[in-house]
Amino acid sequence: MTVLSTNRMPAIAGGEARFPEGLPLARPILHDLPALERRLADILASGMLTNGRTVRELEERVAERLGVAHAVAVASCTTGLALTLQALDANGPVVMPSFTFAASAHAVVWAGGTPVFADITLDTLCLDPAAASALVEGASAMTATHLYGTPCRTESLAAVAESAGIPLVYDAAHALGSARAGTPVGGFGAAEVFSLSPTKVVVAGEGGLVTTRHADLAAAIRLGRDYGNPGDYDCRFPGLNARMSELHAAVALHSLDRLDVNLAQRNGHAERFWSALAGLPGLRRPKVDDGDLSTFKDLTIVVDQHEFGLSAAELAAALRVDGIDTRRYYHPPIHLQHAYRMLPARELPITEAISQQVLSVPLWSDMTDEQMLEVADAIVRIHAHRARVRTELEKYQPAAMGPGRR
Ligand SMILES: Cc1ncc(COP(=O)(O)O)c(C=O)c1O
Repeated sequence: MTVLSTNRMPAIAGGEARFPEGLPLARPILHDLPALERRLADILASGMLTNGRTVRELEERVAERLGVAHAVAVASCTTGLALTLQALDANGPVVMPSFTFAASAHAVVWAGGTPVFADITLDTLCLDPAAASALVEGASAMTATHLYGTPCRTESLAAVAESAGIPLVYDAAHALGSARAGTPVGGFGAAEVFSLSPTKVVVAGEGGLVTTRHADLAAAIRLGRDYGNPGDYDCRFPGLNARMSELHAAVALHSLDRLDVNLAQRNGHAERFWSALAGLPGLRRPKVDDGDLSTFKDLTIVVDQHEFGLSAAELAAALRVDGIDTRRYYHPPIHLQHAYRMLPARELPITEAISQQVLSVPLWSDMTDEQMLEVADAIVRIHAHRARVRTELEKYQPAAMGPGRR
């Protein structure tokens, strides 16, 4: 139950800060550190720091959990995506969303392709199958991101890719644990690529995983993560060093043990948060289709400035004074970033509008219910005192209104 203290002022307007020590956006949680330390010590003592059995064990565990034939551990999601697209000859136009993290597009470019950005659906904020369909002619591949852990509408996207005769690769960086109508994310499309970086639900420190039903694709990615060298030093193509170390695999295995607990905690927090905000105008949650499961890698609000009375950027600035960390995932969208401004201009009205409206608030698996409700309550207070908040923010500008950080 939340206490709606609308009579108290938000910190930006002179009230007491909710989190004077600061509340981070995310926190990687690893339990039972002694067990993990023993595992790491065994690896160090074995002398096999890479290409060993821990990586193989992680691959087997993930393949089994996701019900997919092959899992290939890699150094990061970015390298996993690049190697997958390289193996699929995606070296022409690649239809993809602009409303995702920049690495989704960087991987396309590193694999020799050119992003062709398509718009998203207003409800899920994931790639819009109809918008993608209008752009697939002549494309060499399609990618879609399970944004924040929300599963994409995989059936419609598969139909678009199939009718165009091109591979579909999912950026599943956020989605290890998500499920579409009961089927785990991992087996959709030609391949799905996960991230194990510290802000994710399963963490390795740094790392990624490619899952696929196709043995030949898995084999090409295994070769690619090892420079393209099958062992005879006669490299078959220019690969990368994208191996995952044994130490990282040990951390990932340890973290994977907690996946179900973490998923339950995150979903519980998301429900608590949204219940506490019920009735507040101008805030909505990205839609997770009925029967789907999200990891809630991010807990993201879409803020309608006119109805709420403050923009997402203003809400972020006010929350910062309360000690609450936020990110504008994803603002600016990729097509407006310096790195991609040379591409032909494209109309992406939903992407551009939504990127102004999103705000991700703190969520990690072991966050307490009280912390979650305090964040919701801070938003309630900021809304209740929005006119005063706006006046205070005008004094802070432009520092308080600066671009969101990653
Ligand atoms: C959607 C998306 N794709 C790709 C990546 C890159 O993942 P990694 O840091 O493991 O390369 C991220 C990282 O956060 C991401 O959010």
